[in-house]
Amino acid sequence: MEIMNEQQIEKFYRSEVSIIEKKLRTAFINSEPKSLYDPCAYALESGGKRLRPFLVIISAKAVGGKTKNVYNAALAVEILHNFTLIHDDIMDNADKRRGRASLHKVYDANTAILAGDNLMAVSYKYLTKDCKKNVPEIVDHFTQGIIEICEGQSYDKDFELKKNVTIEEYLTMIEKKTAALAEMCCCIGAKIVGGSKSEVNNMAEYGRNLGMAFQLQDDLLDIFGDEKEFGKKVGGDLIEGKKTYLFLKALEKAIGEDKKLLQKVIKNKGIRPNEVNKYKSLYSRLNVFEETKKEIRKYSKNALKCVSKVKDSESKDILSWLTHKLVDRIN
Ligand code: IPE
Ligand code: IPE
Ligand code: MG
Ligand code: MG
Ligand code: MG
Repeated sequence: MEIMNEQQIEKFYRSEVSIIEKKLRTAFINSEPKSLYDPCAYALESGGKRLRPFLVIISAKAVGGKTKNVYNAALAVEILHNFTLIHDDIMDNADKRRGRASLHKVYDANTAILAGDNLMAVSYKYLTKDCKKNVPEIVDHFTQGIIEICEGQSYDKDFELKKNVTIEEYLTMIEKKTAALAEMCCCIGAKIVGGSKSEVNNMAEYGRNLGMAFQLQDDLLDIFGDEKEFGKKVGGDLIEGKKTYLFLKALEKAIGEDKKLLQKVIKNKGIRPNEVNKYKSLYSRLNVFEETKKEIRKYSKNALKCVSKVKDSESKDILSWLTHKLVDRIN
């Protein structure tokens, strides 16, 4: 039975996110030097779904905790996430993020690198504010999350040059670069408020599965999304020669001329921007949209299994809503 209707859930989401937004806006207000903190503020003020802080918050609630007890940890993960985006855009030669110029385009790469470094350090400051008990354990989870992101990002870059990436290797890569952070958010949210071991593990598993579905959907939107909504350059993954799920599935299914076209991407380590539409049609012909959706549903179903084990009934409704919302998202 549903305890909360969709309107109530959306209201909850909006009000929790707006608390985080407010705190983010004032994070660097009187900080000097401006050459460091203006770019940091630019990154944080640009919107975004604020999914990761929400995962911290809802995971705390799911195990019977108060959401206000994890607001600093929630800020910490959003700040951390923004650090990874800033560096990711440099690594991916991505000029656009959240509908605006990427940080390294507004300023320059050196400024963006340093702003990212600083955000990572600042994230720890916020995290530890919310750790009353088991500080080393929570800091360790947080740190492990960052290490996995770096490992995943390294695979992601390696695969641009690797000729024979398997779907299994791709899944390991996204598990690290994206799912590890979602997992960590759920884990620390539940842990900070004193969730039991099995509750924490269940939330962590939820986060990991959600994160997998989330990255697959991101790959999908990278080619099938609407650039205005998505806020990032459509076709960017193909231009950079990324071995996404869509690309690998297309390669698996293609024959003849189609296969040659895909092999050209591998050989040339990417495509030209004016070729994006040609590859988009090829993907459509090969039905990789549906193939990717199938894989997304697999992970979201696993995530929903975890949701069914949550005791708090409001949280159950919210988590289930969140899972569906992310799977159907357009940005
Ligand atoms: C982008 O994350 C990076 C990925 C893991 C795909 P989001 O899509 O959550 O980005 P924002 O924070 O909402 O802009
Ligand atoms: C994001 O992967 C992973 C991290 C930022 C760690 P992507 O490179 O696909 O993310 P977007 O599409 O640029 O947001
Ligand atoms: Mg990127
Ligand atoms: Mg990337
Ligand atoms: Mg992407």
